[in-house]
Amino acid sequence: MRVLVTGGTGYIGSHTAVSLMEAGHDVVLWDNLSNSRVAVVSRMAAIVGTRPAFVLGDVRDAAALDRLLGEQAFDAVIHFAGLKAVGESVRKPLLYYENNVQGTITLLRALDRAGVRTFVFSSSATVYGDPARVPIREDFPRAATNAYGRSKIMIEDVLADLAAADPRWRIARLRYFNPVGAHESGLLGEDPQDVPNNLMPYICQVAVGRREALHIFGGDYETPDGTGVRDYIHVADLASGHVAALRYLHTHAGMLTVNLGTGRGYSVLEMVEAFRRACGRPIPYKLVARRPGDVAQCYADPSAADAFLQWRATYDLDAMCRDAWRWQKRNPTGYEE
Ligand code: NAD
Ligand code: WQD
Repeated sequence: MRVLVTGGTGYIGSHTAVSLMEAGHDVVLWDNLSNSRVAVVSRMAAIVGTRPAFVLGDVRDAAALDRLLGEQAFDAVIHFAGLKAVGESVRKPLLYYENNVQGTITLLRALDRAGVRTFVFSSSATVYGDPARVPIREDFPRAATNAYGRSKIMIEDVLADLAAADPRWRIARLRYFNPVGAHESGLLGEDPQDVPNNLMPYICQVAVGRREALHIFGGDYETPDGTGVRDYIHVADLASGHVAALRYLHTHAGMLTVNLGTGRGYSVLEMVEAFRRACGRPIPYKLVARRPGDVAQCYADPSAADAFLQWRATYDLDAMCRDAWRWQKRNPTGYEE
């Protein structure tokens, strides 16, 4: 297949594009580089042996999308492009609705004009808000606590209406839990452009000496050790989930919604201990107040992905920490040379 990967130079997009190429697909990366670096493309080429095509572009730019789709034929699109910082979304809601929601609608309209109607969307466990119980199944109610989460719910709804209105669309809404880890080569990984918002990149920067100590947000949750529990999933497993979703859509019209998680939750303290094992040095931390909007526990029931996609996560926590550490150690300041 020829696959257009929006957000293809980002963290999950770059790993997925490598998996797609390794599975024999042709890919074109489309990204405005607002949160990634073009150096990623050479790293991908070093892994796969072929350089993926990269087009600098914005999903809000209808004319540029029409040009690309007029010049080149695609079988499917995987749509990663979007902004993802929860705190920033609360401060700048219009930016998030414009970039994420309007950007997706502009992309979908261009695809419709070009007759490309196989579409995989990066949704998130954030759409479940504070779940009434765990593990979380796809039919649980959705409720977001911030503009980022609401942008994901809105896009999910646009996609559901589109699939219902026009049977030619084939749509997968993939709800990722907590992506972590890096490519096992040490060439690709997560490269936050600012202070990391997420746990694993923060721990990595403490381990490599860029930050003094981890702040653990809350030690009084109703969890076995009082710290928050999440379903961390290796980015290589997420990548193979997208390859499986494309395979599924090849033979199934309509819309599919599945969780991509491991089904196993780990606490912040368990993460700190696992990372210490992987890097062989202590991770200094301080317990501080809860972060507003955080939930106690969030982990997936991953059985639908197994049933529909024949996909399940294969990497364990030690592999996630080992690969994240290899990436961080070899690239202490990320893709910056
Ligand atoms: P990322 O920031 O590394 O990648 C997103 C990419 O999209 C970046 O390269 C950025 O430059 C690009 N982009 C942003 N707006 C764009 C626009 N208007 N036009 C073109 N390109 C644009 O983030 P990621 O972690 O790889 O996330 C990918 C997708 O998965 C996002 O949609 C995100 O919301 C979703 N997601 C991420 C997580 C996570 O924790 N990483 C969890 C659930 C869902
Ligand atoms: C994990 C745990 C924190 C940082 C976020 C988004 C979600 C999705 C994934 C995109 C929690 C604790 C964290 C730190 C800490 N992204 N923590 N100190 O909050 O589960 O999910 O990323 O869709 O939408 O909300 O992930 O990595 O931020 O936090 O103690 O410096 O680590 O409280 O328990 P989260 P996270």
